[in-house]
Amino acid sequence: MTEIEPASLAHSDALAAIHAACFPPTDRWDAAVIATQLSLPGTLALIAPDGGMILARAIAGEAEILTLAVIPTRRRQGLGRALLSAAMTEAARRGAAVMFLEVAAENHPAHALYAAAGFRPIGRRRRYYANGGDAVTMGRDLAEK
Ligand SMILES: CC(C)(COP(=O)(O)OP(=O)(O)OC[C@H]1O[C@@H](n2cnc3c(N)ncnc32)[C@H](O)[C@@H]1OP(=O)(O)O)[C@@H](O)C(=O)NCCC(=O)NCCS
Repeated sequence: MTEIEPASLAHSDALAAIHAACFPPTDRWDAAVIATQLSLPGTLALIAPDGGMILARAIAGEAEILTLAVIPTRRRQGLGRALLSAAMTEAARRGAAVMFLEVAAENHPAHALYAAAGFRPIGRRRRYYANGGDAVTMGRDLAEK
């Protein structure tokens, strides 16, 4: 059973290594970027040391997923779902009533994961990403968490 632990500044390198294994070079967050995110108010970070991470922010009753990554050799084993669920639980514990996220329109694995976790499309942001791709905004209530 995979352990999921709270992550702190001391995990910045480990979080960046997982992120780098999951995103193209232009979209990677290095340890300095992750450390900056971790130092912002309301940031919530969880790590599965064997290959997964999630960063979210919960502030003023609303939460947002910042990034979610599972290394290729650990995919389709429920780790992404477990990280997302743990982040929702922690955001709800911190008082968030809703959670939002943005996902690339063509990212079918992530869409499937979020839809299975109860997120519904809210809107579309045209040419949101550097590669010209659209983002889909999704959200769900956390009341039942
Ligand atoms: C998206 C990502 C985090 C999913 O992680 P994962 O650990 O493989 O996901 P899980 O094993 O928990 O999958 C949970 C459910 O999501 C859906 N899903 C996940 N990957 C899928 C895929 N490749 N194709 C179709 N459905 C998929 C399925 O419904 C799956 O349940 P099932 O395996 O019982 O069918 C992972 O693919 C990843 O890191 N991708 C690159 C980074 C990324 O795109 N992050 C999200 C940015 S918004």
